[in-house]
Amino acid sequence: MQTLTSLPDLRAARAALPEPVGFVPTMGFLHEGHISLARRARAECASVVVSIFVNPTQFGPKEDLAAYPRDLPRDLALLESAGVDLVWTPTPEVMYPPGFQTWVAAEAITQPLEGGMRPGHFRGVTTVVAKLFNVVQPQKAYFGQKDAQQAAVIRRMTEDLNFPIEIVVCPTMREPDGLAMSSRNTYLNPEERRAATVLNRALSAAETVFAAGERDAGRLRQVMSETLAAEPLARPQYVSCADPETLAELNGPIERALLSMAVFMGKTRLIDNRVIENVRKI
Ligand code: PAJ
Repeated sequence: MQTLTSLPDLRAARAALPEPVGFVPTMGFLHEGHISLARRARAECASVVVSIFVNPTQFGPKEDLAAYPRDLPRDLALLESAGVDLVWTPTPEVMYPPGFQTWVAAEAITQPLEGGMRPGHFRGVTTVVAKLFNVVQPQKAYFGQKDAQQAAVIRRMTEDLNFPIEIVVCPTMREPDGLAMSSRNTYLNPEERRAATVLNRALSAAETVFAAGERDAGRLRQVMSETLAAEPLARPQYVSCADPETLAELNGPIERALLSMAVFMGKTRLIDNRVIENVRKI
């Protein structure tokens, strides 16, 4: 496995890689969720490239950029054992050269949910991912369902900008008690960690009533909110039942939806989601 930092080194190594090239962009402090993307890429592509870059432009001024956890030696060991060929660890100077002023921004799809709570977040994500795509030039790129809106925004951007890249969205990896894996879970104290299972429980509660025939979007939001309200440490920021592609909030009867939420546990902001669908054939 090669680990490279400079742009010329990366371009030269990329040119020599057998295709198709599969690409997994990350911010490091890797866990089984990230590794599952690398394994999927390994299974589907001749070469696998992973980037590790804590992208400053997707963090708000009051967010956790400085505190974001990092452990490069451990990340590299995990990627090596997942069979990754090339790891790119660009510096902020490479990604944002002096005088930088060109942004990529998707519009309506970035307005609700995470975009509503984190102004400018998706502009940072789409800009850095477009730059990573331009440099790595993968045939396939892998993203996690954990960040459902991010995956939808990247799909939109890829289509809108005519990137010749297939976007593959992989299932959310969870801890044995159902908590979605996240680098930010390390911020939780033991009490918050126990309480954090409430996000998955709220999604399951809504899924259960949906499976039993409940179709009303508002009622599904209510079931999730009630489950969250029963956990005193949880402070919900939003609870949503939205169209899985456009992310527009739904009302009335639904057959398919993205259920999602953001919840503060102490100072830590957690997100989770699930797609529900009525699979009954007409
Ligand atoms: P990061 O949070 O490091 O996540 C990298 C990728 O791993 C994303 O596609 C994310 O959805 C996926 N992922 C995270 N937790 C997961 C889980 N529990 N199961 C499955 N996949 C999971 O997302 C980012 O970095 C950045 O925004 C990035 C796209 C790299 C742009 O800076």
